[in-house]
Amino acid sequence: MPAELNRALGLSRFGCLFLAFSHMATGQIFSRNTQALFYNYKQLPIQRMLDFDFLCGRETPSVAGIINPGSEGFQKLFFGQEEIAIPVHSMIEAACSAHPTADVFINFASFRSAAASSMSALKQPTIRVVAIIAEGVPESDTKQLIAYARANNKVLIGPATVGGIQAGAFKIGDTAGTIDNIIQCKLYRPGSVGFVSKSGGMSNELYNTIARVTDGIYEGIAIGGDVFPGSTLSDHVLRFNNMPQVKMMVVLGELGGRDEYSLVEALKDGKVHKPVVAWVSGTCARLFKSEVQFGHAGAKSGGELESAQAKNQALREAGAVVPTSYEAFETAIKETFEKLVEEGKIAPVPDVEPPQIPEDLKYAIKSGKVRAPTHIISTISDDRGLLTIGPRFGGAIDDAARYFKDACDRGLTPYEFVEGMKKKGIRVPGIGHRIKSRDNRDKRVQLLQQYAHTHFPSVKYMEYAVQVEAYTLSKANNLVLNVDGAIGSLFLDLLAGSGMFSKQEIDEIVEIGYLNGLFVLARSIGLIGHTFDQKRLKQPLYRHPWEDVLYTK
Ligand code: ACO
Repeated sequence: MPAELNRALGLSRFGCLFLAFSHMATGQIFSRNTQALFYNYKQLPIQRMLDFDFLCGRETPSVAGIINPGSEGFQKLFFGQEEIAIPVHSMIEAACSAHPTADVFINFASFRSAAASSMSALKQPTIRVVAIIAEGVPESDTKQLIAYARANNKVLIGPATVGGIQAGAFKIGDTAGTIDNIIQCKLYRPGSVGFVSKSGGMSNELYNTIARVTDGIYEGIAIGGDVFPGSTLSDHVLRFNNMPQVKMMVVLGELGGRDEYSLVEALKDGKVHKPVVAWVSGTCARLFKSEVQFGHAGAKSGGELESAQAKNQALREAGAVVPTSYEAFETAIKETFEKLVEEGKIAPVPDVEPPQIPEDLKYAIKSGKVRAPTHIISTISDDRGLLTIGPRFGGAIDDAARYFKDACDRGLTPYEFVEGMKKKGIRVPGIGHRIKSRDNRDKRVQLLQQYAHTHFPSVKYMEYAVQVEAYTLSKANNLVLNVDGAIGSLFLDLLAGSGMFSKQEIDEIVEIGYLNGLFVLARSIGLIGHTFDQKRLKQPLYRHPWEDVLYTK
């Protein structure tokens, strides 16, 4: 199917290669061969990128590698129906050397870490485009990133952005939302419209509008809602102007800031040779008696010049097609497109049928569409993880004990400990939970803590772990002390408080990782029970399903 789609799109292998090498900050920045490094493992946006790739008939996945501080190995994700193992690196430099052709860096770091990691990425010779998703990056940091990117001929998209998309070629993270929306907006194949917007949310809306009244998007970029965007509306309009595939531009600005005026200047100077349909939203700000701060940091009704009305007027006078209201935007886009078709400047692209993305089994089961057989009958337990002991299960207890002990014995403050770990790229073991949070505590942790308070001679290590938790909770609600962290720290208290072990013995126990023995013990009991249960149930030879193993290099 991908090859068929390539043919339908008229893109030969050579065509793809040509696109890959023809990018420049003054023209096309993505192609059907573009690959990215994704910083901070977030499963959903990566899977959405891969689903988009499949939909477009790409031959290679657009995510070459993942950088997840503190972990290495592989992450399993789907590329169409197949599962693929994407390499995970703990350091940016290592990821860039391992994937020298991946030239886009998609940064999903939090607002605290986005600037430092983006600067490291910009400094890598292989990285050409950096997109920053986080909202709230300090403006002084952003200014430094902008200066560095400009001086080194790199493209910065964001901060506070959803990213961007080249239809039928490459997509950043969550751009354009769900696969259903992407299909509805025909983003799986290129159209003729270059689109740039400040807002990420509104860009999804406009992808729909543009698909309804034109032959669709060629490329769309959300520059982000901060006061200082890494690249501006006019940067992208001027780029689109140099791209022969783009026949007209649609711009969605916003009140606040002066960015739209550089577009006004470019239009007045005759630098833009294609029709621009523009709207600056936020005209309602005048209805308020006082200054209003809208959702984006940059969307503030400042002086008259920064108002939506003034910017719309200036764009209109400079030659852009500017409707009288947002409601009339769609008609303005439609009329401009139809005129270009009439003049023979656009030959609307033929539609192609995108392949169907296979549905995930867990969602199909949940919705009642399919059923899947189980592989084992058991009457004693659900047998999950019966055979997995080691770092994969139980490893966090050993690690939590090791790191908490070291930090507590060295007298590190929780701040010094957590930030020191972060510098080393290691997430604190024993901290964090997928479901549990500050307001939804893990009952097991609470019971263990209560028991220890009543019965243990000292709870020094557990109290230290609780202080660490107080610090990590200031970063995110789910960074609670989890049950592994609680057991790890409480075992330290037991070892230290029982008086039965020398300091050297305790160090050895923690260093070797004896606490994993708890899992050996529990699983040994389970294994004995399992053996008897299987015999009693007269179960036949068990063959593990072949498709359950991803065999990879
Ligand atoms: N022990 C200690 N610390 C830990 C542990 C642990 N076990 N696990 C995580 N942490 C820390 C991390 O180190 C990180 O620290 P830092 O913030 O000092 O770097 C912190 O917890 C946060 O965790 P992360 O996974 O790194 O970040 P987060 O979950 O906050 O995700 C993201 C970052 C994706 C940017 C998120 O905040 C987000 O989506 N924000 C919204 C961005 C946005 O709206 N952009 C505009 C888009 S436009 C549109 O969408 C319409």
